[in-house]
Amino acid sequence: MVNIAVLVSGGGTNLQAVIDATESKEINGEVKLVISNKEGVFALERAKKHNIRALTEKDNEKILALMEEENIDLIVLAGYLKILPEALVKKYKNKIINIHPSLIPSFCGMGYYGSKVHEAVIKRGVKFTGATVHFVDEGADTGPIIMQAVVKVDQDDDASSIAKKVLVEEHKILKDSIRLFCLNKLDVKDGRVYINE
Ligand code: GRF
Repeated sequence: MVNIAVLVSGGGTNLQAVIDATESKEINGEVKLVISNKEGVFALERAKKHNIRALTEKDNEKILALMEEENIDLIVLAGYLKILPEALVKKYKNKIINIHPSLIPSFCGMGYYGSKVHEAVIKRGVKFTGATVHFVDEGADTGPIIMQAVVKVDQDDDASSIAKKVLVEEHKILKDSIRLFCLNKLDVKDGRVYINE
């Protein structure tokens, strides 16, 4: 059973998707720990409802200690709005998964998060956007890509309607990527992820 920690900063709909998938056994893992960098976010309530250890912590040393205390095997960033300390990224190389609400390498990197991503998508007038799940490396949204999903941008879409369509896809590919990780089916070679389905 893979011990999973989920780092959050907001509403936690991606966290909820992961919790539900572990409880339904779709994912062969258990969410042991939820850490938010912000007090009082709904994601913490979601965790507590499922009797999952949930706390607010900003100190990097303490976050590292919590990961060790809970014997975490996989860290999932689900709407987490902080850059991880290098020590954590090094220790958990190819064991930290992030979900980003665009088709990386478009509309990603510093400053591209939440609605800012979708506002840029509308402004640029792209015809397709989507979501990306990737392993986390030292950069911002630069790690090996695990999975992507495409969402069509309709002419009457705005940032909010696109966000809703993308979020549905985020939940799907995040769950599926974690499922494959827990089955040890993800290999990384020369910066590319190979799925041994
Ligand atoms: C959303 O913008 C999502 O695209 C991104 O983080 C934000 C919050 O997601 N991954 P959540 O509902 O807190 O999981």
